[in-house]
Amino acid sequence: MLNKNVEKALNEQVEKEGYSSSLYLSMASWAEVKGMPGIAEWLYVQSDEERIHMLKLIKFINERGGKAVVPAFRQPEKDHKSVKSMFEGVLKHEQFISASINDIVAVCITEKDYTTQNWLQWFVNEQIEEETNAMQILDRLTLLGDGSLYLFDRDIMSLRANPGEGAAAS
Ligand SMILES: [Fe+2]
Ligand SMILES: [Fe+2]
Repeated sequence: MLNKNVEKALNEQVEKEGYSSSLYLSMASWAEVKGMPGIAEWLYVQSDEERIHMLKLIKFINERGGKAVVPAFRQPEKDHKSVKSMFEGVLKHEQFISASINDIVAVCITEKDYTTQNWLQWFVNEQIEEETNAMQILDRLTLLGDGSLYLFDRDIMSLRANPGEGAAAS
């Protein structure tokens, strides 16, 4: 049986990944309405990946004899001051998620659940990638300054090392 404290921490992460998916979906919709299809596409793909992260957690909890609970997700911000401030929000959110994953690893160590700790390594590595991606995008936006977002919007998908990678991972 899955340790109760580990199960609780994993279920809290289900909520965080599900919220991440809603957050990026909301950002995608905002970018689409603003006439930035490339940025919207990047965020739609990101939203799908976050849903897959949530599914991974749900399946693991259930396979290990726990009970995954799908929570309500709070409503994300509807508007953004600028594309840059939106991506600053993405980076901040990913840093929050990384800290949260680290906290679960700590619970696993306290509870001597080395199986789950080992399984969580995929998320640890994923978060390194997620933070790097967000930082690279912010670097580009800083270089762009007040310049036109047209080329950035056209090229943003090429910043994905491996489009749809999250979907293939299991
Ligand atoms: Fe995630
Ligand atoms: Fe993420």
